[in-house]
Amino acid sequence: MAAEIIDGKQVAEQIRRELAQEIADFKARSGITPGLCTVLVGENPASVSYVTAKGRACEELGMRSIHHALPAETSEANLLKLIDELNRNPEVHGILVQLPLPDQMDESKVLFAIDANKDVDGFHPVNVGRLMIGEEIFPPCTPAGIQELILRSGTPTEGAEIVVVGRSNIVGKPIAVMLLQKKPGANATVTVCHTKTRDIAAHTRRAEILIVAAGRAKAITADMVRPGATVIDVGVNRVGITSSGKPKLVGDVDFDAVKEVAGKITPVPGGVGPMTITMLMKNTLKAAKLAVDGRC
Ligand code: GUN
Repeated sequence: MAAEIIDGKQVAEQIRRELAQEIADFKARSGITPGLCTVLVGENPASVSYVTAKGRACEELGMRSIHHALPAETSEANLLKLIDELNRNPEVHGILVQLPLPDQMDESKVLFAIDANKDVDGFHPVNVGRLMIGEEIFPPCTPAGIQELILRSGTPTEGAEIVVVGRSNIVGKPIAVMLLQKKPGANATVTVCHTKTRDIAAHTRRAEILIVAAGRAKAITADMVRPGATVIDVGVNRVGITSSGKPKLVGDVDFDAVKEVAGKITPVPGGVGPMTITMLMKNTLKAAKLAVDGRC
């Protein structure tokens, strides 16, 4: 029997409806409109489309969106100066510097410069530390979206064998930490596989929940999946152009084959992607509450 498809777009829309109400309530109560500032250095086409989608989502939910586009050759000092201004600007509650940055910039230094209380990406070392000890304010958006999809798909996590493929700072490491916490929606036994793992399939075949952020199309084939598993595909790989001239996207999982083995599976596009931006909106509202109420 083919797997149930986890519709990320539908789940994201449901959460956005809930958020729109919370944002309206916050604005009515405080007289303040939550504001997100996105910063893009250069013109990487994928980054341009992500940042555009983030700005649009903000406006649709009744929040303010501010955008700064800097040329690819901008110096690190100039970017740090802009971040300093945004840190001090009371209308800016959340700051997002789109990654990757050009080679002349030290990514860690840039992320460290963002006020931790405006770091809606959750990438500042203080927020990474808070996440590690289970006291996060801003859970990183893609892992938060993955956790929400697992929960809302009705897949239990407590005591479950969860395997994460990929160890990036943006997805692999934080989702592993989040699912390990002594909390509802977590409490799992988590294994993280990576490029130096000796036998990835031996691990993935044991997974009741398999989360794939490997960065490579067809990294997971049907023989690597435990029958009935919930499979969350975080990959976005461009593999040519569709008939309408848009980039054709696939995940890291061989979807057509794996859906015949898995119990539940997220598609690409329409799985994790819409959730990431929704979680960013949630963090932006939290940042505004933190600024206004001193807590969120
Ligand atoms: N580049 C790819 N994903 C992300 C993300 O979640 N946040 C930022 N700032 N840049 C990214």
